[in-house]
Formats: sequence, structure tokens, C-alpha cells
Amino acid sequence: MKNLKDKKILLIICGGISAYKSLETIRILKRNGCEIKTILTKSAKEFVTPLSVASLSQGKVYEDLFNVENEAEMDHIALSRWADLILVEPATANTISKLAKGSSEDLASTVILASNKPIFLCPAMNVRMWEHPSLKENLEILKLYSYKIIGPQIGEMACGEYGEGKMTEPIDIVNKINDYLYFINKNKKLKALVTAGPTREYIDPVRFITNKSSGKQGYELAKSLSRNGYQTTLISGPTNLEIESEVKVIKVETAEEMFKETQKNLPVDVAIFSAAVADFKVHEKSNLKIKKSDELTIKLEKNVDILNYISNHNSMRPKLVVGFAAETNDLEKNAIQKLKSKNCDIIIGNDVSNKKIGFDSNLNEVTIFYKNNKQEKLFVKSKTLISEEIVERINNQLT
Ligand code: CTP
Repeated sequence: MKNLKDKKILLIICGGISAYKSLETIRILKRNGCEIKTILTKSAKEFVTPLSVASLSQGKVYEDLFNVENEAEMDHIALSRWADLILVEPATANTISKLAKGSSEDLASTVILASNKPIFLCPAMNVRMWEHPSLKENLEILKLYSYKIIGPQIGEMACGEYGEGKMTEPIDIVNKINDYLYFINKNKKLKALVTAGPTREYIDPVRFITNKSSGKQGYELAKSLSRNGYQTTLISGPTNLEIESEVKVIKVETAEEMFKETQKNLPVDVAIFSAAVADFKVHEKSNLKIKKSDELTIKLEKNVDILNYISNHNSMRPKLVVGFAAETNDLEKNAIQKLKSKNCDIIIGNDVSNKKIGFDSNLNEVTIFYKNNKQEKLFVKSKTLISEEIVERINNQLT
């Protein structure tokens, strides 16, 4: 498991009967060259002792309280930054519920809340707890926040019942983490570019023509690509959105600026064109504000089609080109026609006639059209989850 070497793992042990298995996880991680720090929640100490964890991990064990000594040595923010990843094992129903609420009532939940690193949860609980709708709801929320869930398995439980809820075995947990690190390292060599948001085409210094677009789906795609290891550049028209510092953001206003910046940031391995680029610009922009007493006729001319241009120029074409088709009608026909005419590998068809999803909403529903005539629908879900699923498809296409 060579991807684990020199990795810094923050292991959070919660209070469940399978907490004792975390000692085995520590052994495997250590054998593979990891540096480990541990947080024991208050109830975890009923199952494993800080001394046994410290001896095996040869690293600092933080107990579940803020104390002067710990905060002076490495405060909770520094601790979350120190780690390459956080592993919560076992993740009890109580911890899952706290994390879904964004609680910061103890050291473990505070460090997780403050973290900008991948977080793996290994649930372990009784089968009825695992099947409870409230638990399922909490997990859905956590998936939305990009927590990675390992397991649980089906089997006989400590309480004697049988079913799903048994924690995944330590060797399988460590293998999953090793696979994840391998995948991220591979993607780190790859570059991605996303265009997002609307463009503005000025009529005069204060007025412009634009398209309706919040930019949310494009921003979520850039975040998801970055989380998957890609060196990501986001070329964004005007939006009110923020993005993490790992993504290089270039702000533009007009289609022409977006085109220039896109060209400057090539070559890339994958490009997603999600921007709602204005198809027309004003033929002659007035340098002075036009007065309402003025006679006004606006003559428009076509803007460059950024996606079309880049996709059809071999010297700059990314290995994988993903376009969007926002349609109010004939989604399939129009999307397939755009897939072909714009020489895309994938087109994400977006039905924008439904006022509740799509524009301005955090939800979306899309159909993915592939070059080989296949298509698949991603039913209504958050733009974050839609992005994760699209990036999963991109990962598969690039391997
Ligand atoms: N696109 C682009 N540059 C443009 C216009 C569109 O890069 N000047 C890209 C969009 O980012 C999207 C795809 O082309 O990925 C399709 O955009 P869309 O607005 O759905 O289609 P248009 O080609 O503009 O055609 P129409 O407006 O007639 O549907």
C-alpha cells in the first residue's frame, strides 16, 4: 500500500463496541508508513485507553476536551490542517448526527467542522439504528458535504443481532484509503478548466445584455474536480459565489474576455463549458451613457462560440470536452445536435423549463449524452451531488 507512505492521518475514535478494532487500523497504518495523531471522544475511552492508542500510534492522543496544553501545542484548527485526511472509526450514530448538524460541541466535531481535508466515516451500529430514517437522512446530508462513507457490512453484531451495521474490517478500510490516495495522486497530474456563470455584453458603461445564470452548477463542478485531485481553473463571469483557494479563479465579464482567458489557460486534460455565454454582443458599444432622450437602435453581432472554437481546433482541444445544453424544449434532440456540432465528448442536457430546479436553485436534474449515443439521467438532486456524479463519469472516461 505504497500510497500511504508519509501520509498524516488524524484518527478519530468514537465510543462504540468496534472501537477496539481501531487499534488494528493503527497497526496497519503504521506498518505502511503513516504518521498518526488521534482524538478519543469521551465515550471512546470506555472502550479503548489513551495509553494503548498512544503506544501503538507513537503519536499524540487528544482527549475529548479543550485543554491549555493541547491548544498551546497544536490548536484545533492547526490539528485539522496538519492531517492529510481524517478517518472517523468507528463512526457512531451519535457522531453522524452531530456532524450532519454541524455541531462543534466537542474536540472531534470541532476539528471535523474546521477541516478542509477529505473525511472518511466508517459507520458501526446496530442494524435497526442503521436502518432508521433519521440516520439515513443524516448520511445523505454528509454525502452532500462530500464526506466519504466506508461500509458498514452485513454480519453478526456484538449485540447478537444480524444485519447491516457491522464496521468494515480495518484492512479493508485502509485499502479503501490507499485506493483513494492512489486515485488523487494520479489526478493531481491532470489539469481541468471550467467556464461558469453568465457573461455581460455592454451597451454603454452602465447597461449590458446578459443571460440568466447563477453559476452554481459550474462552481460546484470546479469544486468537485479539485476535490478529486485535478489542478482546476475556473473562468467565471459575474456571480456572487465563493470558492475554495485550491481552485484558480479568473473573473471575467464579457464573452471575449472569457474566450481569451480560456485560451490562455490551455492545454488542459478536461474542460467543462458550463457558462451561459451571451450569444450576441453589441456591434458598437457607446463609451458614454446613452440618454433616454437619444434615439436608440442596438445592432448586435455574434459572439465567438468558445466551446465550439476550442473543441474544433486540434492544437488546443482538451482530451475530454464537456458541454452543456440548456433547453426549454426538445432537450434530447437539441442536446444531441449540440454534442455533434460542437464536437463534444459529453453534453449535459439541462431542462430549464421547470422553474423549481435549474436556474438560481441549489437543485438540478440533468441528462448526460455521450458520443457513443448512450445517455443517462441524473434525477433531481443538489448541484453538489450532480457535480460529484458528473466528475465520477469524467474520471472513468479519462482512465
Ligand atoms: N457556449 C460557448 N460559447 C458561446 C455559446 C455557448 O462556449 N458563445 C457553450 C456553453 O457554455 C454550453 C454550450 O456552448 O456548454 C451550449 O450553450 P447553449 O447556450 O445551450 O447553446 P448555444 O450554442 O448558445 O445555442 P442556442 O442558444 O441556440 O440554444
